[in-house]
Amino acid sequence: MTNSGTLTGTIAFITGAGSGMGAAFARRLAADGAHVVVTDINADGATAVATEVGGTPMQLDVADSRAFDAAVDDTVARHGRIDILINNAGIAPPTDSTKVEQMVLNQIARMEGRIDDLVPANTTIELSDEDFDRMIKVHLYGTFYGIRAAARHMTAARSGSIVNIASVLGLRPMAGPLHYAAAKAGIIALTKSVGQEVAAFGVRVNAVCPGWVDTPLLHQMDPVVMGAIVSQIPRGRMAQPEELAELVRFLAGPESSYCNGDVFASSGGVA
Ligand SMILES: NC(=O)c1ccc[n+]([C@@H]2O[C@H](COP(=O)([O-])OP(=O)(O)OC[C@H]3O[C@@H](n4cnc5c(N)ncnc54)[C@H](O)[C@@H]3O)[C@@H](O)[C@H]2O)c1
Repeated sequence: MTNSGTLTGTIAFITGAGSGMGAAFARRLAADGAHVVVTDINADGATAVATEVGGTPMQLDVADSRAFDAAVDDTVARHGRIDILINNAGIAPPTDSTKVEQMVLNQIARMEGRIDDLVPANTTIELSDEDFDRMIKVHLYGTFYGIRAAARHMTAARSGSIVNIASVLGLRPMAGPLHYAAAKAGIIALTKSVGQEVAAFGVRVNAVCPGWVDTPLLHQMDPVVMGAIVSQIPRGRMAQPEELAELVRFLAGPESSYCNGDVFASSGGVA
């Protein structure tokens, strides 16, 4: 990709950038001249992407509040500024093949009008405290920690753009991944509230709600479930990470100067 230069001199900090969409965001911002601090809990992923885009690799678990503060402070100490933060790191709920099989049987029973034959999936009543905590911690706490750490510097500088990666499941939850949907809905609320608080101080906070995107996050999902999901996407296919990167690039840069606490879906018609 040729460097358009429109982000030259800026410092962008991206979480979960060692894979999938985060890596695509790193490539897109670097292509426009940003120096990208490529962070991920997976140090090897961060190093590989940072090497590719000429950025700075950093290992960071976004669920660790002190580590997040230190990583952002270190970035400002090293580079003198932080202009862009993309809160992207995330995890997917694991899929259980027995539940998937039951879901398919239930769907067939529904289509045949046999409602009395439905067997409960029990997803909610079997969800453990640990799984619920981790999901909320990585997504909602992680996004809050990032916003807080970056906003300290950005409000002082009266400049900055924060993009939070939520999901269509935060706008239109589906049965099953309740903790994921709740975390993403929380990120949308955080975005709107903080976006309003800091709007007059030159800092913009916005959210992107991707639909289904072809990344390693979904590769552990049951192919039957994925087939059923894709069949419901009006656009007829999943997105590629690069398609989301265009929207994130817009929100990261000065072109989106009147976006404050706003929420943007790119969902192929799902949202
Ligand atoms: N793929 C989709 O269909 C889809 C749809 C909507 C939203 N999203 C969201 O997009 C974001 C990126 O997901 P992706 O699809 O590119 O997945 P991915 O698995 O390819 O990338 C996620 C990255 O986050 C990192 N990560 C996980 N836990 C972390 C932690 N605690 N701290 C730091 N890094 C951590 C992983 O190591 C990985 O590199 C996530 O927030 C996800 O919820 C994905």
